[in-house]
Amino acid sequence: MRNLLTMNALSVLEIEEIIGQAQDFAAGEGWFPDRPTYVANLFFEPSTRTKSSFEMAERKLGLQVIPFDAGTSSVLKGETLYDTARTLEAIGVNALVIRHEQDAYFAELAGRLNIAVINAGDGCGHHPTQSLLDLMTIKQEFGGFNGIKVAIIGDIRHSRVARSNADALKRLGANVVFSGPPEWFDERIGNGAYEDMDTAVKTADVVMLLRIQHERHAQNHHRTNADYLERFGLTKAREKSMKPRAIIMHPAPINRGVEIDSDLVECRRARIFKQMENGVYIRMAVLKRSLEQAKGGTVYENNH
Ligand code: CP
Repeated sequence: MRNLLTMNALSVLEIEEIIGQAQDFAAGEGWFPDRPTYVANLFFEPSTRTKSSFEMAERKLGLQVIPFDAGTSSVLKGETLYDTARTLEAIGVNALVIRHEQDAYFAELAGRLNIAVINAGDGCGHHPTQSLLDLMTIKQEFGGFNGIKVAIIGDIRHSRVARSNADALKRLGANVVFSGPPEWFDERIGNGAYEDMDTAVKTADVVMLLRIQHERHAQNHHRTNADYLERFGLTKAREKSMKPRAIIMHPAPINRGVEIDSDLVECRRARIFKQMENGVYIRMAVLKRSLEQAKGGTVYENNH
């Protein structure tokens, strides 16, 4: 399938293939399409990592990046997402990378475009390329997923990262638990039970922290940063209780001193910047896959 919208649309084999291709890119393999290929990145929500690393991946693959700025686009005149995407298709863009605040924004595009759509995050829904780069990071560390315990901690209810990762990790054989403020646990996510903070941190192989997504909260949660860190964050004391080989992950942006003590962000266990580095290779692999599979896979050839 040329689109990548959710993790649950990928089989375990496809996940393994994308991670394998990303590893090959990280090791120096190259791939370029055999004709000029155009990509536009449509970000309707703020982003540093995802937008920049898609753009880096696109440039490394020799793709032509067509600038799109939501803040100066005709979306401000009321143009729909479909009409925006259809316009870019009409002028010759081959793939769209889209981040949007609306859950499942892509339903509006389904079956109506002949070009690839890659989801760079939809509301509280899904963030498949973040999940893939997280999986790549875990695999690099532990060699696989079977029996690995991953504690996803924080604002679970509003997290597309939690949703995408829990689904994929469970299918890959990992044991997922959730922790953080109990009122932000969302059992509809499935694939893992709630565990108290201290137990989760002590027993996990991967402590995956999440940012409080203030922009998706209807009400202020009325906790100070220091109170949140003490009760639900990774303090220095909790870090000392972690298993010897356990690692710390965070999709970022990080709120230092809230979900994690600032001094731990680059400690020996932290893989946060490694995740970002892996994000470029994962996005190269996802773009290659989408472009090869567009139009029956006949337009682009593997020429590495
Ligand atoms: N992790 C992530 O999606 O970061 P950005 O919001 O900066 O893209």
